[in-house]
Amino acid sequence: MKFFVDTAEIDAIAELNNLGMVDGVTTNPSLIKKSGRDIIEVTKEICDLVAGPVSAEVTAVDADTMIAEGRKLLEIAENITVKVPLTWDGLKACKTLSDEGHKVNVTLCFSANQALLAAKAGATFISPFIGRLDDINLDGMELIEDIRTVYDNYGFETEILAASIRSVNHILDSARIGADVITAPPAVIKAMVNHPLTDKGLDAFLADIKAADIKIL
Ligand code: G3P
Repeated sequence: MKFFVDTAEIDAIAELNNLGMVDGVTTNPSLIKKSGRDIIEVTKEICDLVAGPVSAEVTAVDADTMIAEGRKLLEIAENITVKVPLTWDGLKACKTLSDEGHKVNVTLCFSANQALLAAKAGATFISPFIGRLDDINLDGMELIEDIRTVYDNYGFETEILAASIRSVNHILDSARIGADVITAPPAVIKAMVNHPLTDKGLDAFLADIKAADIKIL
């Protein structure tokens, strides 16, 4: 499973990237706003840092302007993936840009039918939003399962990029189902290391190290 980090914060990306935890990055207008940075500048910095795909999202809602914005974003670096919303115009932009050989991430996916359309329009990645479905008492993981089934039934190569991940359980469940990629905030990825028995076990070892005065260096 590939790990993308869902942020435009350079320091957080660098910390995880140095540990080999970053296979790519996803950004969106809300994350760019949160960073307080210019979209082109910050996206270039991320692309310089990370070897894998970096999703940068268009701002327009009509296909022609999305395509023009996508082409401008693609000039930033070779590892740009253009992110478009799952609307009819977004699908048109997806088809045009993917036909030209560019990577496209279709975002704001909330149904398997939408994912099917994105795959047919040549999407490289489909981004189903798990957390936002859970927020309205629907089952985000069920959507990941449905898309996995539909794509596998027909051999679609579009990668399932599980997004809107809010907890470590979302990551584990996505891995169990076989999502190709998860994108998660840095804090959620880092929280995967936590386990109370690890803390308890380490405390016991530390007590014994002290009691027996065990020294290596
Ligand atoms: O990449 C977009 C997605 O991950 C958004 O997450 O938490 O704003 O629903 P969230």
